[in-house]
Amino acid sequence: MERSRIARADELTEVQRIEVDSGAPFREIGMADVADMPPLPLDVLADCQRAGRVLVAVDAGDRPVAFAVVDLVDGCAHVQQLSVDPAYARRGIGRGLLDEVAGWAAVRGLPALTLTTFRSVPWNGPYYARCGFRELTGGEVTPGLAELLAVEAAMGLDPADRIAMRRQVG
Ligand SMILES: CC(C)(COP(=O)(O)OP(=O)(O)OC[C@H]1O[C@@H](n2cnc3c(N)ncnc32)[C@H](O)[C@@H]1OP(=O)(O)O)[C@@H](O)C(=O)NCCC(=O)NCCS
Repeated sequence: MERSRIARADELTEVQRIEVDSGAPFREIGMADVADMPPLPLDVLADCQRAGRVLVAVDAGDRPVAFAVVDLVDGCAHVQQLSVDPAYARRGIGRGLLDEVAGWAAVRGLPALTLTTFRSVPWNGPYYARCGFRELTGGEVTPGLAELLAVEAAMGLDPADRIAMRRQVG
């Protein structure tokens, strides 16, 4: 990764483009419904951007090639979305952005990163486990995370394959 920084307001449509393009591999594993999901709406992204919660990894020309949107859920830095432009995939950019989010959280005194993801998709649960996350079970799933999982189930994502994960900061 060249470097990362907070996204500018005029980069949010590019952020949406990266999210849509990064979904393509889901099509190849029979999850076209996930690939076809719309990206985060511009108004949501704009709110996050104003709050300094959209991080982008940029190329040598300072153009975004990946992004992370961070939310606050139950006192932790929640990775709402992480996407890497497929043209820049498998170069450590996703891992690097997660480390940047960990730094972002550390500066704010937040104890951990959290996310929800697919357990069985290779570049989701297993990938995050390699990046230092572990699956939360039972009562470890805090109320805000449980609510997010419920919303995802209502959107049609298979609840049996959705998990919450956590990575300690520091
Ligand atoms: C998940 C994602 C952010 C990873 O970003 P990345 O920069 O490509 O990842 P890294 O370079 O840090 O790590 C690469 C590793 O991820 C895994 N991976 C990435 N893409 C993969 C794919 N299409 N198939 C299988 N494994 C994949 C592999 O373990 C890979 O290691 P390898 O290249 O040695 O096999 C990126 O694939 C992405 O944007 N995916 C679509 C969006 C998504 O699923 N977001 C998460 C929703 S919760």
